[in-house]
Amino acid sequence: MRILRMMFPAAVALLSAICPADAFAQRITAEEVAGKSKDEFIDGLLGRMTVEEKIGQLNLPSYGNVKPDAKKSEIAGRISRGEVGGIFNIFGVDDIRALQEVAVEKSRLGIPIIIGADICQGYKTTFPVPLALSCSWKPENIEEVARISAREVSADGVCWTYSPMVDISRDARWGRVKEGAGEDPYLGSLMAAAWVRGYQSDNLSADTTIMACVKHFALYGAAEAGRDYNPADMSRVTAMNYYMQPYKAAVDAGVGSVMSSFNEFESIPATGNSWLLHDILRGHWGFKGFVVSDYLSISEMMNHGVGYSEDVTLQAFKAGVDMDMIADLYHANLKGLIDEGKISMAELDDACRRMLVAKYDLGLFHNPYRYCNPERGKKEMRSAANLAAARRIAAESYVLLKNDGGILPLSGVRKVAVVGPLADSRANMSGSWTKDEATGRYNGLVENLRDALGGDVEVVYSRGSNLVDSEKYEYNFTNRETNKRGDDKVLLADALKAVEGADVIIAAMGESLDMSGEGDSRAILEMPECQERLMDALDATGIPVVMVLFTGRPLAMERQDRQADAILNVWEGGSEAGLAIADVLTGKVNPTAKLTMTFPRVTGQCPIYYNHKNTGRPVAPGEWYRPFASNYIDVPNEPLYPFGYGLSYTDYEYGDVTLSSVEMSSTGKITASVAVTNTGRRDGEEIVQLYLRDMVRSITPPVKELKDYRRVALKAGETKTVIFEITVDDLKFYNSSLDYVAEPGEFTVMIGGNSRDVKTAKFMLK
Ligand code: BGC
Repeated sequence: MRILRMMFPAAVALLSAICPADAFAQRITAEEVAGKSKDEFIDGLLGRMTVEEKIGQLNLPSYGNVKPDAKKSEIAGRISRGEVGGIFNIFGVDDIRALQEVAVEKSRLGIPIIIGADICQGYKTTFPVPLALSCSWKPENIEEVARISAREVSADGVCWTYSPMVDISRDARWGRVKEGAGEDPYLGSLMAAAWVRGYQSDNLSADTTIMACVKHFALYGAAEAGRDYNPADMSRVTAMNYYMQPYKAAVDAGVGSVMSSFNEFESIPATGNSWLLHDILRGHWGFKGFVVSDYLSISEMMNHGVGYSEDVTLQAFKAGVDMDMIADLYHANLKGLIDEGKISMAELDDACRRMLVAKYDLGLFHNPYRYCNPERGKKEMRSAANLAAARRIAAESYVLLKNDGGILPLSGVRKVAVVGPLADSRANMSGSWTKDEATGRYNGLVENLRDALGGDVEVVYSRGSNLVDSEKYEYNFTNRETNKRGDDKVLLADALKAVEGADVIIAAMGESLDMSGEGDSRAILEMPECQERLMDALDATGIPVVMVLFTGRPLAMERQDRQADAILNVWEGGSEAGLAIADVLTGKVNPTAKLTMTFPRVTGQCPIYYNHKNTGRPVAPGEWYRPFASNYIDVPNEPLYPFGYGLSYTDYEYGDVTLSSVEMSSTGKITASVAVTNTGRRDGEEIVQLYLRDMVRSITPPVKELKDYRRVALKAGETKTVIFEITVDDLKFYNSSLDYVAEPGEFTVMIGGNSRDVKTAKFMLK
């Protein structure tokens, strides 16, 4: 054909016009992939793609209904016509292999499809929700979760995950806070990088690694009033100094893809926002991977009111979105926009190239079936090692919020009453993105506690109350376990009977997993009244009450905090949660986790976060009310539990902060040290936190910012000196010109076991 083309170009052109394009098909061959460099190969491939095929690479439909015969499904037809670059939320080697075969064998050029999924907290082995994981303050745990997730799902056909979600959030009303790492930019950045390392490792084309996709870019967690999809309205300095940090950390860690977000910023939808996607992401941060829109976020721009179908397609594409998730607008409109000259071929080539590079880096051109390995899958899925990791990591994410009189760990008890609407739930152990449907085999609290306490201890169970007051929730719970309604009076009477003679009550309450998550914002973070009544009644029995709090977000539980003797926050802990809860309640594991998101006293305090501004009329720490000051007349400013807070079964005492110098040069560094003593009777591990406050600078500083921390293992009675190094990099911020600078002046160093209880010292930056 090449010779023919050289000799008779006009005839060939005529033939091409009459015959379908595949008359000249030059399918990708193994020799071509092996024999060329990456650039040569991709240039060559791009050079023989039609405009339609290039646009096809930018199209990401969901799997739709591929059953019963994936190869005959509607989506297979689209793949064979070269209209699809990837698909998502399809699982299992059989269907994925079948569709990949269509792409490789039936489409004109044989370009493989990329297979995506929301693998956000494990695949078959389920781990705690990411907010819980962040409370371990152990990036190594998150890296391990991502590694195990990648190993499991990559055997089942998936090579691309929509994780990590790194949106900073200061507002617990937002239903998606559980998917991120809380409110702090520094900690959030460490976690973001750990997720990326875990999924991608340093070899994306290995069979056991998958490509990460950091989301949702950008500022999605700042949804106004905590209502999902709402605008995020803030200054650029606030965006850069707080919210943008974790996305940047993921980019610096080499994340392969970025997902744009649903919200608007500066009155422009993020999915069409070129300051975010072009100037910051690609320009300042040098991101080289591809950008995918969030589900329908291109077509939703029409609802935002910035244009009609073609306008929003053009705006999203020009801003820098390479791949269209679900909306099908690139498929519908890009060709016309190119024909009209509004989008150049070079721009289309750039976007298409980024998709081809991602596929190349994943090794799909070398072996399109490398992620389909049922034999490996059999060994990897829910292996004993993976389940053991899930149990350990879950226990390390549980935060002990209260423990009066050392009631925990349980000891010397003969009868334990486990009560509450979440006490006997298995399905509620997981989080919203769980991909393992077999939650029935998850570990349940009642049985696991019974096993852990041994045959001599009687463990009784009673449900005690409904989960929510039906008249207050216009909500279609998907979870059948918690959906079953009983009569609250009957449930309560039964519980009061069950607890008779008990030495301790374990009250398992809070939220079911479907009360938080996407679209599940709440305006009332206090306990539902039916649960409140149950707790009042349990408290009135005089029997010690240990509250085991299941939740996907901080709740406003001032009343329950007064009533319970101990509170263990176990979040949504994954498939091994029941075992892990029993480990902590019985003292096999000494809790170490600390909150990464502030718990309000009442919902009206939201948004509430530790790194807030001082205002011109601050109240002093601990002070409640002063006329004409920045406070509330009905509730103190202080939260119920501050950022960084969490107890253990031992106690720690902090000495004074010593600085190596009270002056630091602009190129120098100083150290801050503190002696920490384990004053209790158990060995433990404390998370020692370093905060800084810039006392005066050109834009208003927050009252404190986390800059570093150390986990310190201390035997009972032991003292260790913890030394932090502070360099000028720790003092930098984005000024009003968005330059990243440190300004000379006074700084306060604060060190403590949480963001509220700190010891201080001061130094000057010269
Ligand atoms: C969510 C994303 C998710 C996507 C694909 C969207 O609704 O916002 O977080 O990755 O769906 O499932």
